[in-house]
Amino acid sequence: MCKVIQAVPRRSSGLILWLILWLVVVKPGGVTACPIHCVCYPSPMTVSCQSQNLTIVPSDVPFDSQRVFLQNNRITQLRADSFGFETQVLWLYGNNITWIEAGAFSNLRVLEELDLGDNPSLRHLEGGAFRGLEKLQSLHMHRCRLAALPHDLFHKLYSLQFLYLQENQLNILQDDLFSDLVNLSHLFLHGNRIRVLSENVFRGLVNLDRLLIHDNRIRQVHRKSFRDLGRLTILYLFNNSLAELPGQAMRDVQGIQFLRLNGNPWSCDCEAQPLWEWFRTARISSSEVVCTSPSQRRGQDLRFLRELDFALCPVPDPGSPVGTTTTTFSSKTRWWFSKTMKTFPKTPFDSAPAKYEMSDAEAALPKLDPEEYWANYGNEDASIRCFEPECPPGFDNSAFYSSSTRTNVPSFLHLASLSVVAVSLHLVFG
Ligand SMILES: *[C@@H]1O[C@H](CO)[C@@H](O)[C@H](O)[C@H]1NC(C)=O
Ligand SMILES: *[C@@H]1O[C@H](CO)[C@@H](O)[C@H](O)[C@H]1NC(C)=O
Ligand SMILES: *[C@@H]1O[C@H](CO)[C@@H](O)[C@H](O)[C@H]1NC(C)=O
Ligand SMILES: *[C@@H]1O[C@H](CO)[C@@H](O)[C@H](O)[C@H]1NC(C)=O
Repeated sequence: MCKVIQAVPRRSSGLILWLILWLVVVKPGGVTACPIHCVCYPSPMTVSCQSQNLTIVPSDVPFDSQRVFLQNNRITQLRADSFGFETQVLWLYGNNITWIEAGAFSNLRVLEELDLGDNPSLRHLEGGAFRGLEKLQSLHMHRCRLAALPHDLFHKLYSLQFLYLQENQLNILQDDLFSDLVNLSHLFLHGNRIRVLSENVFRGLVNLDRLLIHDNRIRQVHRKSFRDLGRLTILYLFNNSLAELPGQAMRDVQGIQFLRLNGNPWSCDCEAQPLWEWFRTARISSSEVVCTSPSQRRGQDLRFLRELDFALCPVPDPGSPVGTTTTTFSSKTRWWFSKTMKTFPKTPFDSAPAKYEMSDAEAALPKLDPEEYWANYGNEDASIRCFEPECPPGFDNSAFYSSSTRTNVPSFLHLASLSVVAVSLHLVFG
């Protein structure tokens, strides 16, 4: 016994002791502990610290967490050193975030969902705020009072599929803002103050499926705005200030199935002809398109104007499909409209619908599972975003362990580390 100690010089035996201490205290603690004020769930490893009045991100969130819930606290800043862990899901909605350092999330290399919604003091963002989030699929920034977005905010977010920017104060969308978002399928921009859709505003969005941009102040859409949106199926432009819409823009969105244009001051003079002609061939479900001017056509639906109404207009813009029949609608189109009006409830299209509300017709879209649709709308679905202690009665949360019960549940790793200590001490001191 004594021989062993003599064989090991004093300095290196001290080093070994420190190494053991470090292994015991730092490593296993970082893997298993649940931070104070938080509740932890295994598989997927979830750390839930909501509604605790936290002002900073806890420093001891386990490194290999899979979901970290920090919503409804009072966190004010996010810095690069705020996140000493990796996680796939990070909820920070309902805080008081005022500043996000450039590169704040760059250590979160596997992050797939980031929810920053309902942070009403987050008025400005730095260009590099989301740098490094190349696996991010879903980014929520609704109700943050954002007035503008830096032109490079979404650079390299190649995996992003859902982008929620609704109910902010955006008034300008810069050209090519979304140009790296090749995988984006849902873009929610409703409830902002956008006035113009420029030629290159949606450039690069080749996989966009739905564009919700209602409840804005749009008065002008460039004829090439929708050039890359060939896969769009839902377009909401209701409750804006549009008097006309270029026929070319609508011809670029060939796959469209649901269109809402109500709540705009449509002008039904000659400028309406390209849109009217597009409607003649489009097989879609559309809202009303009620004329505001000229006065003799006020209240009429633009879609159902007659060819005669445009008899005195100049030749339509080149490239537009010119009708060959003398009737206003082809029999096919007329069949579609009559079918549509009979089958689908009239109310949702008559007035501007309430926010987030889908008509039955849309809910019945065959390719879409309504649950999936609603799950991606944000915080509205309580059943999906329920975690103890906010869950409805009867919610099964038997699998959790919390910081208070943790000490009663010695983990395997902790036991393992203790035996490592015992064996090491035995080796060193014989
Ligand atoms: C958070 O602060 C509010 C107001 O100061 C208080 O009513 C509430 O109990 C606090 N919540 C927690 C979990 O400490
Ligand atoms: C949010 O944070 C700012 C300081 O960054 C503070 O002045 C303000 O009172 C906070 N708001 C709330 C609701 O806590
Ligand atoms: C787009 O998403 C698909 C899966 O949905 C993925 O395989 C592909 O790599 C993504 N594209 C990019 C550029 O990340
Ligand atoms: C139309 O949009 C404005 C501003 O975005 C909003 O205040 C208003 O409530 C909306 N109206 C309807 C009927 O949705």
